[in-house]
Amino acid sequence: MNEYGTYRAALDGRDLPAAFLDRAAFEANVATTADRAEGTPVRVATKSVRCTAVLERVIAEPGFEGLMCYTGHEAVDLAEQGFVDLLVAYPVVDTPELRRVAEAVADGHRIVLMVDSAEHVERAGAAAAEAGADVPLCIDLDCSTEHLGVHFGVRRSPVRTPNEALDVADTVVATTGVHLSGLMGYEAQLAGLPDRSPGKSAVENFAIRRFKPRSKAVVRERRQAVAGALDDEYGLAFVNGGGTGSIEFTRADPSVTEVTAGSAYYAPRQFDWYDHVAYEPAAGYAVEVTREPADDVYTCRGGGYIASGPVGADKTPVPWLPEGAQLLDAEGAGEVQTPVRYEGPVDLAPGAPVVMRHGKAGELCRFFEELAVVDGDEVVETHPTYRGEGKCYV
Ligand SMILES: Cc1ncc(COP(=O)(O)O)c(C=O)c1O
Repeated sequence: MNEYGTYRAALDGRDLPAAFLDRAAFEANVATTADRAEGTPVRVATKSVRCTAVLERVIAEPGFEGLMCYTGHEAVDLAEQGFVDLLVAYPVVDTPELRRVAEAVADGHRIVLMVDSAEHVERAGAAAAEAGADVPLCIDLDCSTEHLGVHFGVRRSPVRTPNEALDVADTVVATTGVHLSGLMGYEAQLAGLPDRSPGKSAVENFAIRRFKPRSKAVVRERRQAVAGALDDEYGLAFVNGGGTGSIEFTRADPSVTEVTAGSAYYAPRQFDWYDHVAYEPAAGYAVEVTREPADDVYTCRGGGYIASGPVGADKTPVPWLPEGAQLLDAEGAGEVQTPVRYEGPVDLAPGAPVVMRHGKAGELCRFFEELAVVDGDEVVETHPTYRGEGKCYV
């Protein structure tokens, strides 16, 4: 649909600002994601969703198996709500949190913790031994690469070689209360870095597009070598990789048994800037015009829900509908007020909504308590976000 009048009719009478999920676009994006994976199971990245009802909808579709969580507390909460097969993608070092995970595992839930060092393993082992649990662990492989002396990727795990991975695995095997289950090799520079971001210079975007194919070759080889070494020595239950921006590349790696996708379902602005990824905008929010300080300038309440990461033009939300509405360079999207320039035919009298799109998927739900599900020109249901459930985690 994606038409101003339809959203305006749907949101009429609601308190604004309001976040929405466009049902038709969301369902199309879920289907596109399953198609892209071509039968490789898709693990759903919760940080890019942050809404339990949406997680339930995605995971119920064929092709989706398991969640990738971002904290231990989140994983336990989701397990208690009936979700199964939870992989915590980032190391947990907090003792009470580890204890809670270990107790949930002892109760029969499958929650896999991420490790990249002996210390991570020992901490998980201590909590597991106390709870009488056997906690599955996953080793995080650094998939960043280097080209022309430039580091290309994220700074997370120090594990890069088969021997480094085997060292961590040896510690896992020698530690009571834990066992080795999987390997995760997340190629952030391919999955999460757009090809033509407005937050980067033309030279930077050019370099990114030149580096990506070179990086792919290194990632493919490294992930296969490490997965092979761990599998030969200890056996692996799964090898995870990828994200919304890299599904085709990741699933083509024969060592990978599952791909991750989270942002795909909402399709925020970030995914407008990939050369080979096509989704429909499915989430955003509406702010309402409250005043008209000059001709063709309409100031709205709220609006400045900025995304995380290096600060740049790609992190700001932008007006989406009515078509042609734009932020003012001097103010951008503000904390409590956002002026918008608009010269088109739509009457933006006070009370009229301006529909905005945000930069990064799940972060929208950090600012709103619910998502209004828009179907055609009506809101058919509302889903509480994590925030609406009183949760944030980090
Ligand atoms: C470990 C890991 N895997 C996968 C993803 C991909 O998530 P998305 O599909 O939302 O880009 C992320 C996102 O940052 C991540 O940290």
